[in-house]
Amino acid sequence: MTLSEIRLSVNVDHIATLREARKTYEPSPLQAAFVARTAGADGITVHIRKDRRHIKEKDAVLIRELVPVPLTVEMGFFEDILNFVLELKPDKVTLVPERPEEVTTEGGIDLTKDENLRNVKIFYEKLKDVGVKVGAFVDPVQDIVKLAKGLDFVEINTTRYAMFPDDKRILEAVESSAKLASDLGLYVMAGHALNLNNVGRIAQILEISELSIGHSIVSRAVFVGFERAVSEMKETMIKYRLLRILTRQ
Ligand code: PXP
Repeated sequence: MTLSEIRLSVNVDHIATLREARKTYEPSPLQAAFVARTAGADGITVHIRKDRRHIKEKDAVLIRELVPVPLTVEMGFFEDILNFVLELKPDKVTLVPERPEEVTTEGGIDLTKDENLRNVKIFYEKLKDVGVKVGAFVDPVQDIVKLAKGLDFVEINTTRYAMFPDDKRILEAVESSAKLASDLGLYVMAGHALNLNNVGRIAQILEISELSIGHSIVSRAVFVGFERAVSEMKETMIKYRLLRILTRQ
């Protein structure tokens, strides 16, 4: 992986959200994963939620078996999902906090809380044993990122940046957290609430190797098609990454 490379893992949860609006078989997350791959996605992500409100186990199994790109599963600390994922053996698992009533993931895991750190370690050990890489979704806070040392990766939460894209301190926090994570030997991802308008500045952070993006791609796909929505996102990420490299002092 070189500095110029930035990967896109496309989250297909909201393809399943649309399917579940009618409890039918379309649109299919499996088909979306295929199209995403054709459009240049480097990976597929699914969040298996406790209530299975969108992605079901079957979706993850079909994507794992039939789509030859790395699969990342996002999950909270749930025993039943852990048992399923131990069988599925995706490439990566991103551990996230999950509150039943939340509309979407609300923040990173606060690793300064003993219980969370303990749970991350337990899940990490179990998943590591079957060859799955494990990371935590964390807010861009140095004291939290430090505690992720020893995991395979972190995913830095970009929600606040997306809410206040012109607040330099928030962007700096994302950047310094990415640097710290990279210095700690972690593979660095970022994501949540990224779209075509705000992804550029995140893609310019050289320590970030991969972005996880879902909702804005699916939203745009309604108007321009899924293949184009994915390829535009990938092209935008690469454009900004290369610009950063070309203008580096
Ligand atoms: N990263 C994490 C940890 C998430 O929970 C989600 C949403 O499932 C995403 C990234 C993707 O966020 P969005 O759908 O806003 O692009």
